[in-house]
Amino acid sequence: MRRVFSGVQPSGELHIGNWLGAVQNWVALQDRYDCHYCIVDLHAVTFPYDSTILAERTREMVMSLLACGIDPQRSIVFVQSHVPEHTELQWLLTTVAPLGELERMTQFKDKSQRLESVPAGLFAYPVLQAADILLYRAEAVPVGEDQLQHLELTREVARRWNAQFAGDDPFLPEPQALLTTAKRIVGLDGQAKMSKSLGNTIGLTDPPEDIWGKLRPAVTDPARVTRKDPGTPEVCNIFDLHKHFSSPDTVELVAGNCRSAGWGCLDCKRVLADRISETLTPIRERFTTLRESPAEVDEIIGEGADRAQRLARETLKEVKSRMGFLPRKEG
Ligand code: TRP
Repeated sequence: MRRVFSGVQPSGELHIGNWLGAVQNWVALQDRYDCHYCIVDLHAVTFPYDSTILAERTREMVMSLLACGIDPQRSIVFVQSHVPEHTELQWLLTTVAPLGELERMTQFKDKSQRLESVPAGLFAYPVLQAADILLYRAEAVPVGEDQLQHLELTREVARRWNAQFAGDDPFLPEPQALLTTAKRIVGLDGQAKMSKSLGNTIGLTDPPEDIWGKLRPAVTDPARVTRKDPGTPEVCNIFDLHKHFSSPDTVELVAGNCRSAGWGCLDCKRVLADRISETLTPIRERFTTLRESPAEVDEIIGEGADRAQRLARETLKEVKSRMGFLPRKEG
């Protein structure tokens, strides 16, 4: 099976935007690929962060992925900082990574603008990402559009490294993007992309009463000022969420009742709240079970690190050999 690699920052809890946009796809890919899913804590520290909660957030992210259906029997789930080969390969790759292209990375420009003093780690971030992928010689990388530039840099780094050190046997494959069908999930404010930092999300482990509490005041079609005004489902964010969580029959019913003003927005939201709760309940229950069995989670994380490291060591050994380093004598 072809190898897939992807990474997610330990932002703590996942929300339905992450789930629809990425994690559901990660779960599905397990049937067709040899998947490697990494919590990229070394990336998380390139931007100001709270060191007192990093570890907790990292664990929570592992538990969230498992709760969503990432299966540690079939896939390798691990924490980036547990496999120090990532940083070693990163260093080696900085020697072929083009400075000019790093300067052009939009994520770097965007994030560095928000900082008074820009850490070099933020600049080197895409090289670490390249190392993540190339360390497992992954052929495919499921990512959203915002990561395409980083993936293109990864391909460029692989090309340059191969050209310099691999002769006519390209040891580091140029990975392909598996673009998630641009599901841009708008937040409950009806404006910006759903994002934890904007507080416009529904968390994957929110209990039904919280889901309702967040949906009730959510923005809908602005033309529906009163209960009697007919609406346009296509411009309503709540309708968009129905398309992701409700059956086709319900979606049709909702659209009809919106256009005819048969239902008010609250009626529509109540149905959506039920559908979302129904979908998320098994995830929330699995998450709770995992939280109650930390030893099991530790074991999964440890096992993931061991399996990832075995592969990482093989690649790194070959990379260093081709780069001409004096091997360390064992024993
Ligand atoms: N930069 C990615 C993001 O912010 C996370 C990431 C790190 C990643 N390493 C990766 C994604 C390797 C895919 C492959 O979403």
